[in-house]
Amino acid sequence: MGSNIRILSAGKYLPDNVLTNYDLEKMVETSDEWIVSRTGIKERRLARENEFTSDLAYKALLNAAEKISFDLNELDALIVATGTPDRLFPSTAARVHGLLGLKKEIASFDLLAACAGFSYAIEVARGLASQGYRYIAVVGAEVLSRFINWNDRTTCVLFGDGAGAIIFQSSDEPGFIYGKLYSNGSLEGLLEIPGGGSMLPSCTADSQEYKIKMLGREVFKYAVSELSSALNEALVKTQTKVNQLSGIFAHQANIRIINSVLERCGIPFEKSFNNIERYGNTSAASIPIIIAEYMETQGMKQNDLYAILSFGAGFVWGVHLYRHS
Ligand code: ACO
Repeated sequence: MGSNIRILSAGKYLPDNVLTNYDLEKMVETSDEWIVSRTGIKERRLARENEFTSDLAYKALLNAAEKISFDLNELDALIVATGTPDRLFPSTAARVHGLLGLKKEIASFDLLAACAGFSYAIEVARGLASQGYRYIAVVGAEVLSRFINWNDRTTCVLFGDGAGAIIFQSSDEPGFIYGKLYSNGSLEGLLEIPGGGSMLPSCTADSQEYKIKMLGREVFKYAVSELSSALNEALVKTQTKVNQLSGIFAHQANIRIINSVLERCGIPFEKSFNNIERYGNTSAASIPIIIAEYMETQGMKQNDLYAILSFGAGFVWGVHLYRHS
């Protein structure tokens, strides 16, 4: 038992239904060339009609558990980071708990920090570990496709559905050697789903008010400026040199955002592990999905140091440095 956490296992689930840029060319006035050059995305996955966020989360968590033959009844907490929950309540996490048929001595709750949900959940998991929680699952899961205006070419080409799950174990090793979260609520209108909550409940909302609205160019500029200064601060405060970083796991919103942040921080692009080409922006799920794929293909070695960066609606964002043990 310890006051930090280490990654024990990582899993993922992506729906098998693929929507390519060529499919989108038939739906709105766009082109594969425009989407790839502006975002890095070639295709994304869409949940089937009968698949909900909880179903994706459940499958990703099972995948993480199966990889290490982990008994999910060992969990002390189950956090689902999502901006697209099944319902306002009960939480998506409670439904995942039910689908898995887990024992009752487990804390289950959702965490809403849009695309930065995974970074925020790391801090919550660290806090729980310091209170004696031993095994904590953090699942990022989204079904964004139901909140997209499929006639709006400025947003419909960007997003996809999916889930990634990390099982953390409390540890005495350093683990997260740095973590800082940020917010700027004054820019809420640049990226939002206006309807569906108590501000604009479903019975009064126009249907397009349930969909993602974004002023992409402004979001882009703000994300690059804030993420690069937050990452630089992390490197300076921990006296970390770029060549000491084994890899970067950045929220997959746009490959140009990631590359601009790396460039400003003097970090070679090859350090960043990306899958935006295949999945688009899966919001809170994107970082745990990348970590799962990284563990499958390369594996983390003891003492490897990774940076985790995220940015989402709010705005909220965060940077972590993680040393694997
Ligand atoms: N196909 C073809 N043309 C398009 C498309 C499209 N899909 N979308 C927009 N255009 C057009 C625009 O209409 C515009 O045309 P105009 O010059 O005639 O007016 C032109 O392309 C350029 O539009 P911009 O918006 O300036 O394009 P930009 O280079 O900024 O790229 C993008 C747009 C990809 C949305 C980018 O701004 C971006 O990635 N923004 C950030 C997204 C993001 O990070 N979101 C945060 C996380 S998401 C979350 O938290 C849920």
